Amino acid sequence: MVGVLRHAHGLAPAKINVHLAVGPRRSDGYHSLRSIFQLIDLADEISITLGESETLSVEVKMVGIPPIRGNTVERAALLFAETIGLSADIRITCVKQIPMESGLGGGSSDAATVLLLLNRLCGQVLSDRDLLALGAAIGSDVPFFLGGSALSCVEGRGEVLTPMVPRDDLIGLVVMPHGFGVSTARAFADLDALRATEGMEKRDLKKSEMISMYGDMPSTWRYFNDFRQVMGPLAPFYDRLDAVTEEFSGCFGTLSGSGATYCVVGVDSDEIGWLRTKLENMAAIMTIRDIKCLHRGHSGDTVLV
Ligand code: C5P
Repeated sequence: MVGVLRHAHGLAPAKINVHLAVGPRRSDGYHSLRSIFQLIDLADEISITLGESETLSVEVKMVGIPPIRGNTVERAALLFAETIGLSADIRITCVKQIPMESGLGGGSSDAATVLLLLNRLCGQVLSDRDLLALGAAIGSDVPFFLGGSALSCVEGRGEVLTPMVPRDDLIGLVVMPHGFGVSTARAFADLDALRATEGMEKRDLKKSEMISMYGDMPSTWRYFNDFRQVMGPLAPFYDRLDAVTEEFSGCFGTLSGSGATYCVVGVDSDEIGWLRTKLENMAAIMTIRDIKCLHRGHSGDTVLV
């Protein structure tokens, strides 16, 4: 019987990308980004138990999805334990609420929460900088989830973070088409292929403009997502979502990440409710969920609007 040393529990919130501009492919195979990442109140739940053991073992139970070997939860736990030379019996349960391959960052957020919880259980043995390095080794979006800000401008391959001043009035919807998951690697490759053949619409938004625009009414935002141009058979679906969103003068809508989720942001709950009803009547091929954008309270904790 393994003696239980300690137990920790935490949430792994999802994100939406309000803006996502993709630069050219770099020599290391990654692409430079300029994006706005905003945490939302949809979250996976992670519990970790550390038991005494003379060797390292990691057991991960994913609830709500089929088992996946080498998932980000397992990779984060192994990387953390190997980095600090931890011998322990690590048992992790992850209750999934964030859909996979949805552009909502679930796998990356899970990895970040595992790193933060394990570091807490081990007496904060690693610095923030060490954790960011481990996070970046697991995935490009993980540093944002470790970064401590509910809202950031994200650049580089995902590891250059500029915390932004979050708002406390943003609400909205995430719209997830059934049966479509988008592989991030595939979406980047498709974007490269499109740029190499046809060229593509060149759009740009200066960083300072991108940051200051966030304080304006969502309906006036000029944010965009470069992945919209490589959504293949789903393109008409997003065109329709854009058209319906534009009927509501206070709302902004965009693809999140490399898809497949579309997100709507606004400030008026009545308007979001009417938009939701209109979308629900449009087709039964999607799941729609109300969201609130997260911000930080004065305590520094992430709190709901
Ligand atoms: O870093 P992560 O494992 O999440 O990235 C998955 C894939 O997405 C990478 O292998 C790469 O093909 C692509 N990617 C990219 N540029 C980024 C982030 C991801 O090309 N900034």
